[in-house]
This record gives sequence, structure tokens and C-alpha cells, in this order.
Amino acid sequence: MIAKVIGNSKIYGEIEVGGAKNAALPIVAATLATSRKVILERVPNLSDVKEMISMLEKAGMNISLNGNSASFFVKNLDGNLSEVSSKIRASILLLGPLALKTGHAFLSYPGGCAIGKRPVDLHLNGLRKLGFKISMGDKVIEATPIHHPKDVQIYLDFPSVGATEHLMITASIMNETTTVLSNCAREPEVIELQDFLNSAGAKVIGAGTTKIKIVGVPRLSGSHFKIMGDRIEVGTYVIAAMAGEGEVTIKGVKPSTVNFLNFLCKLGGDVKVGEHFVIVKPSRLSAFNISTAPYPGFPTDLQPQATVLACKANGISKITENIFENRFGHVRELEKMGAKIERLENSIKVKGSRQFKAARLLGKDLRETAAITIAAALADGVSEIENFEIMFRGYENVIEKLDRIGIKIVM
Ligand code: EPZ
Repeated sequence: MIAKVIGNSKIYGEIEVGGAKNAALPIVAATLATSRKVILERVPNLSDVKEMISMLEKAGMNISLNGNSASFFVKNLDGNLSEVSSKIRASILLLGPLALKTGHAFLSYPGGCAIGKRPVDLHLNGLRKLGFKISMGDKVIEATPIHHPKDVQIYLDFPSVGATEHLMITASIMNETTTVLSNCAREPEVIELQDFLNSAGAKVIGAGTTKIKIVGVPRLSGSHFKIMGDRIEVGTYVIAAMAGEGEVTIKGVKPSTVNFLNFLCKLGGDVKVGEHFVIVKPSRLSAFNISTAPYPGFPTDLQPQATVLACKANGISKITENIFENRFGHVRELEKMGAKIERLENSIKVKGSRQFKAARLLGKDLRETAAITIAAALADGVSEIENFEIMFRGYENVIEKLDRIGIKIVM
């Protein structure tokens, strides 16, 4: 799909963010571990979430979607998903719980993507520590719970969000097994997963810190759970408003999850965080240096968008990407619009005070396409973005929300 983005946008308006994609995906995967009905509210209408739901249906779950609510019921599960191509990286989260529930699970490797090869070694080594036999074919991973350890200590070599979540879900239904994850991810979505698991009868403590303890129970019951607002969606719209020196109110925010706003304020951004909203006022930005890092560091999922901000700030900024090995795909597209960016190893130096010019652009990854959409909205003229539909993976009702803050997209 090619989207036309009308330039010279005056960014002004009010929107409400949807449920967090990166909380919904692990929580939907975790419904596999339950044994009674689960109702989830604020399930975002996103293609990645629909993909996860369709994989669960193929495994035999009974799921019904009604707007942003969904009900899940585990029926007779089939552990063999080897024929189901996993278009989303998060599908790996199904492996552990499915193997426990069915005795044997087969899953095709989750896709890599534009931002990196995305290995799953931390996931699989953790499952081995939990007593699983893992066999890795060319296209399919096989997991079989072989023995049932009483006490398990797993140290993650990297605080992987997915590996932390995968092992939390799996360990939560290993009856009488006590598992301690160390050096685990501290993202707000990990806390949200702990809250969901415990709402269904799990015994998980420590999410949000580097050590999580899980005492396995025989089974999880059901739950009625509302998913938190999407902090990366908030950050994307805040950056759009700041780059366009606009005024935007964003609702649906959980203030404790948007720590990156403190950083954006230090650049001269005028951003006020209220009870469940954020107000951005016009402000001139000074150049900045950021290095992406695991939470509570600056999120890698806002790095492409921050690059656009750097193009508009006063002076020369430096951005370092420490999480993914190939997450500067947006640089080439921004250069087509007149950005002046110098590539270093895993850093870029960005010249500020640039005026973007309209161009024909190509979206290759979710957050990169969000970044070039912001730049195109501020460019002189009408730009075209090929593969714009990537945005429907992670930004709910994105065309309508962009329109509400003054950014016109014509599909
Ligand atoms: C989650 O991905 C998010 N996705 C990503 O958001 C986010 O960028 C990432 O965490 C980092 O915050 C979801 O939550 C669905 P990781 P995940 O495991 O879990 C390496 C978006 O745009 N690694 O924390 O896949 C890996 O290669 C997406 O919304 C291993 O080496 O990220 C990467 O370099 C993009 N071995 C680093 O760790 C493993 O077994 C961080 O990956 C696992 C990961």
C-alpha cells in the first residue's frame, strides 16, 4: 500500500492511545497457561495481535473478539504448530506453555526482521534449565518437558524482554517448581504480565526489578484483565508534536510507564504528565545525545522517532543504538528528505534545524515507518510512503489518530 502524507502539517489536537501491543502479545500468549475463561479488555486492534490470536486458535483455543474485548478459553490443545508460519517474533512465547499443556510442542522459528536477526537462544536455554528437551530442526523447534526440577536459577546473559516473559509464563504452571530469573528485563510490560498471571492465580513476584521469583502452581484459573496503555504509542505522538512544535493532549497514559518523557523535557520539550494524560506544548529543542538501553533506559522503540526530533533540534545530536544491530534503516529515508546524518559504528550524528522536503519513501520496520511518517508530515509538499500498512501492526487506528492531531494521510 502506498500512503500519501500531506506535508506542512500544523500539529494540534487530542487523542487517546490504545492498549499496549507489547503487553497484549505476552498476555494473549499467557492465556494458553490458563484453564478457565479469560476476558481481556483494551486489546489493541493490531495485526500483530490478530496474528498471535490466530496462532492460538490453530492450537485449539476458543477465542472470540468483540471490539477491544476478547474472551479466551483453552479447549483440547494441539502442540503441533510446525505448519503455522509465525509472522511475528512474539510467537516464540507459545513454545513453553504449549509444551507443558500438551506434552510436546513444535513451532516454526519466529521471523527475524529488518532490525536484526532476533535469535532465541536465551529463551531456549531457559527452557532447558526448566527441564525441557529442545530439538532444533532447520525450520522447526521442538520442546518436550522431560523432568520437573524443584529449584531453578536462570541468569539471563542479556535482559531480554521476550525471554523474561516466556520463562515467567512457563514457570508459572510448573507445579511446586520455584524459579528465580536474574538479570531479567524490567520493562513496564513485564510488570503488566506479572499482574495478569497473578490475577489468574499465579505466584510471581519481583517484576520491574532484575530478579523475578515464580512459584509454580498446578494450573491457572481465569481472569478479567484490562491491558495498560501503549507507552511507545504515547512516545511516538509526543515526539511528533515536539518535532512539529505543535500542541497535543494524549490520554490513556499510565504515568509510571512513560519515564522517557523526563528525558524529552530536558531537551527543552514542554511536556506535562497528568493523572492519565500528557500535554505537549510548542517548544524549541536543543541538540541531545541518547543511547538506547533496556528499561529504565531510553527505549530502542523510540530511537527512529528521536532521530527525526534530532533533525529539528538546534545543533548536532548523537544517537547510539545498543539493543538491535540494524535499527538505522530510517536514516536512508530521512536523507532522501534532506536530513544530514553521519553513520558511525552503532551511532549516528544528526545535523539539526533541517527542513524536510517531500520524497518517495519506503517503510521496512514498524518504528522506522512511524519516524518517516512524522518527517513526511513536516516536509514541504506531499510525500509517498510504500509499505505504509506496516503501521497497522503496531499503531491502532493510526490514520484516524494522525488526522486528529493534524496529520493527513491519504491511502
Ligand atoms: C521486545 O522484543 C519488544 N517486542 C520489541 O519491540 C522491543 O524493541 C524489545 O523488546 C526491546 O525492548 C515485544 O515485546 C513484542 P529482546 P524482544 O528479547 O523480546 C537479543 C516493537 O517495535 N536476544 O529484549 O524480541 C536480541 O537479538 C518491537 O514494538 C538474543 O540475543 O526483544 C536483541 O538484540 C521491536 N537472544 C536484544 O536481545 C534471545 O534469545 C533485545 O531483544 C533474545 C534476544
